[in-house]
Amino acid sequence: MRPSAPHPVPAAFAASAHLDEAGYHALYRRSVADPDGFWGEAARALAWTRPFTRVREGDFSGDAQVRWFADGTLNASVNCLDRHLASHGDRPAILWEGDEPEDRRTLTYRDLHDQVSRLANALTTLGVGPGDFVGIYLPVIPEAIVAALATARIGAVHALVFSGFSAESLAQRLNDCGAKALITADESRRGGRLVPLKRNADQALAESPSVRSVVVVTRTGAEVPFSPGRDHRYENLVAAADPMAPPVAVGAEDPLFILYTSGSTGQPKGVIHTTGGYLVHTALSYKYVFDHHDGDIHWCTADIAWVTAHSYVLYGPLANAATIVLFEGVPGYPTPARFWEIVDRYHVTSFYTAPTAVRSLMREGDAPVLATSRHSLRLLGSVGEPINPEAWHWYHRVVGGGRCPIVDTYWQTETGAILIAPIPGATPLKPGSATRPFFGVQPALVDGEGNEIAGPGEGHLVIDAPWPGQARTIHRDHARYVDTYFRRFPGRYFTGDGARRDADGYYWLTGRVDDVINVSGHRLGTVELETAIASHPKVAEAAVVGFPHAIKGQGIYAYVTLKAEFPETDGLRRELIDWVRTRIGPIASPDVIHWASDLPKNRSGKILRRILARIARGETDDLGDRTTVANPDVIPEIIGRRAA
Ligand code: WTA
Repeated sequence: MRPSAPHPVPAAFAASAHLDEAGYHALYRRSVADPDGFWGEAARALAWTRPFTRVREGDFSGDAQVRWFADGTLNASVNCLDRHLASHGDRPAILWEGDEPEDRRTLTYRDLHDQVSRLANALTTLGVGPGDFVGIYLPVIPEAIVAALATARIGAVHALVFSGFSAESLAQRLNDCGAKALITADESRRGGRLVPLKRNADQALAESPSVRSVVVVTRTGAEVPFSPGRDHRYENLVAAADPMAPPVAVGAEDPLFILYTSGSTGQPKGVIHTTGGYLVHTALSYKYVFDHHDGDIHWCTADIAWVTAHSYVLYGPLANAATIVLFEGVPGYPTPARFWEIVDRYHVTSFYTAPTAVRSLMREGDAPVLATSRHSLRLLGSVGEPINPEAWHWYHRVVGGGRCPIVDTYWQTETGAILIAPIPGATPLKPGSATRPFFGVQPALVDGEGNEIAGPGEGHLVIDAPWPGQARTIHRDHARYVDTYFRRFPGRYFTGDGARRDADGYYWLTGRVDDVINVSGHRLGTVELETAIASHPKVAEAAVVGFPHAIKGQGIYAYVTLKAEFPETDGLRRELIDWVRTRIGPIASPDVIHWASDLPKNRSGKILRRILARIARGETDDLGDRTTVANPDVIPEIIGRRAA
């Protein structure tokens, strides 16, 4: 397909935007020529308890120790709440819409501050103090934000775990960080279905000895078991607590949160984000990439437990005193018009979602969208995976009525905030491209040997200099941090993604180049999936690869060899899918289980996933180099058994 001409910035948008194209270039040049000046100024827009005197320290050499604003102290909840109270105390901070359309709540900045302060005091009473980890296993309800900010208020570190994760996944994470308390709910509701959160939590807690207190939010009112002494009702704690909670000032480099993400080994990585640098980067990127103006109503549909929501539901928008919409449910429930009805109900101005949601709604046709007004929308956003041009055009034309710029934002759990994205008043758009770097971000492309590619070209995407929002370490495993991000291309941060740069300097992300699959914008390590499948008693061996999936972007394709005595049945196929769901969570359900009596291997016994990936993609005429296959006879058999 011939690339079409870039979409210019719509005049009506440009008229009120923070920056035009010349403004972007000037500010970008300054940000890389004088990072201390640029980021120092951005940081001074926050409230500091003790001002910093140094901006940036360290680089990507050696063990990649990087520090920002290190001698300053601050509190994240003060920056998101207290400093807005005088001017915006009565402004809604959270417009919450539950799974059922009539279930709604509004919390003003003052309400949120009150709840956060009370829960902060309650946590202190439960013995949680600065530096302690607090697990949060909640649906997308206001209490999830209250819990995160209350944890931050007392200088503790939050660890949100997706409420769709299994008890086993929760326990693994609570144990890795040694969480002292857990905040959960009786049940969660999504798409009309109930999930027994407290029951899952209880199962996890049986194997998480570090957790001494559990706070249970009443979401549905279901009867749930209570363990006296350990379990507390959120509502009782908050009602009894003092509403005045002096915030604990922490060092800029003290951790704000930990978030687990899949890597290329079986163990999820506990990515650590700091307080100062992370807040500066999220606040500034929210302001410029979403072109925030006073009174804006921002809706990011990500679940609160993903990094997207940490940065662009919670910290970025609240640091800018925005009003956020928080939605508990799923895109198509009860009808495919749900998203757009919510946009109209709350007069949403910026709407940020994942390509997988756009594609699933596109499949329902234009009618449910066109039945709504969407007049309030100024800006659309995309995150989590490359957005294919077909979905981009539909999103632009049908959802945005052709008048809203789309910001395709490229970043990662580890980067904390946006790295590459349009500045909507400044950047002509090309559908499918994340366009140009954000301020202070210096991307480069390198080939497999680490040679830098100049001008247009394609290669591995690396970032050449530190930025404030970047993760500082992997919890209790700094060696793995250095190994994962800084070893392959010394002196540079390796994203694990491939990218192309065109003649205009625009970046086009081409997908992961490591053993990570991106399913509906969620990262899953193939090794983690293989380990889960192979732990089934009837399985001898498993190999997992990604394959193109019309809605999810990538699907999970599992080749499975059973132990000789067990027959390959449809019943066992279903059992294996359920097995993975209970071990990791429903998002990890394999789409295809492909029985194989053996898998292609090299002479040292390593499974050749490259060949299996081509077969999964249907590229059976071109399997690439086969000279290393020690058992080539298995290949025709595997191809022969590929589902049509
Ligand atoms: C992919 C989500 C193309 C990429 C914020 C990255 C994208 C991984 C985009 C991080 C985008 C994210 N275009 N690919 N706009 N955004 N990705 O940690 O492969 O859940 O490495 O962070 O998603 O996923 P994560």
